[in-house]
Amino acid sequence: MAATSLAEPQQLSAASTGVARPADRAELVAEILDLKRRLNAVILAHNYQVPEIQDLADFVGDSLGLSQQAARTQADVIVFCGVRFMAETAKILNPDKLVILPDMEAGCSLEESCPADQLAALQKTNPNFYTIAYINCSAAVKALSDVICTSGNAEKIVRAAPADRDLLFVPDENLGQWIMEITGRPMTLWQGHCYAHVEFRRESLLRLKAQHPHARVVVHPESLREVRNLADVICSTEKMIQWCKTSPDKEFIIVTESGILHRLRKECPDKTFYCAPTFDVNRMPGDACRCSECKYMKLNTLEKLRDCMRRLHPRIELPRDLLERARKPIERMLEITART
Ligand code: 13P
Ligand code: SF4
Repeated sequence: MAATSLAEPQQLSAASTGVARPADRAELVAEILDLKRRLNAVILAHNYQVPEIQDLADFVGDSLGLSQQAARTQADVIVFCGVRFMAETAKILNPDKLVILPDMEAGCSLEESCPADQLAALQKTNPNFYTIAYINCSAAVKALSDVICTSGNAEKIVRAAPADRDLLFVPDENLGQWIMEITGRPMTLWQGHCYAHVEFRRESLLRLKAQHPHARVVVHPESLREVRNLADVICSTEKMIQWCKTSPDKEFIIVTESGILHRLRKECPDKTFYCAPTFDVNRMPGDACRCSECKYMKLNTLEKLRDCMRRLHPRIELPRDLLERARKPIERMLEITART
């Protein structure tokens, strides 16, 4: 089949205007891989994506790894299987490439918690603020920030911040608290939370730990302090995988979104992983455990992935000047991260 030109997205779109016919998984995967080749596309997937998307992606990783991959890709089309702010980051780093995602509704509660106009108003109260924005925020918030960080490099970014500035950390209060604890650097914290991670609670984690006394507790820093205090290690999703791989221990309780269990079990087949429960401590014994799922991450499916590649839509489109302003703090993050 002839190579598909990016100038002719309608040609692909015409083939898919109807409702997708039921196709089995193997057919879907084959079509996605064929589209990928024809479009010269790269498929980037976050560690929380459903297993069938992780299994066909070119790269699966955390927010930091995904932005590093986006910064260096030679592909013409970036297909981003994650949430919208991640796809926006890829677009900001590649303003001339086409960036598509399976579902434009894939938002993030942290992004929602920090509207750009409210941040701008707070920044006006102190001209000495140096704004560090967790990557889980809109392009407009990135454009107002001095530097971006992820859970994988937040400590390094904060330690590199100018000593004579007052640090303002947005939008995740829990990540900000944890970084303050380990660096000793005071920061003004925005009061945003990840709706999924704050469901993990000390009591339910203690109950699971009592059932598995040899299990090590691995916690994402978006979790509450009461949960972080029970951790053997606190880290980003990618570091969780590296930590469990190299640990001599055999059992782990994983306190983050359950999508990561797929990679953990695949890459550490001789180890056992328990998904931390998020059920309310007041529920009756025997009530079903709701292992934590991010409703936004789980919007993406194989069918939607195939459809977005057929239609080259939904796509990330941002004003040129916003792309330029948002790029500087991301590039600063990548430069600081690369320092030894
Ligand atoms: P990581 O960068 O650790 O993968 O985290 C992203 C995220 O959204 C966590 O909820
Ligand atoms: Fe946002 Fe939380 Fe979902 Fe991560 S898990 S994308 S922080 S809502």
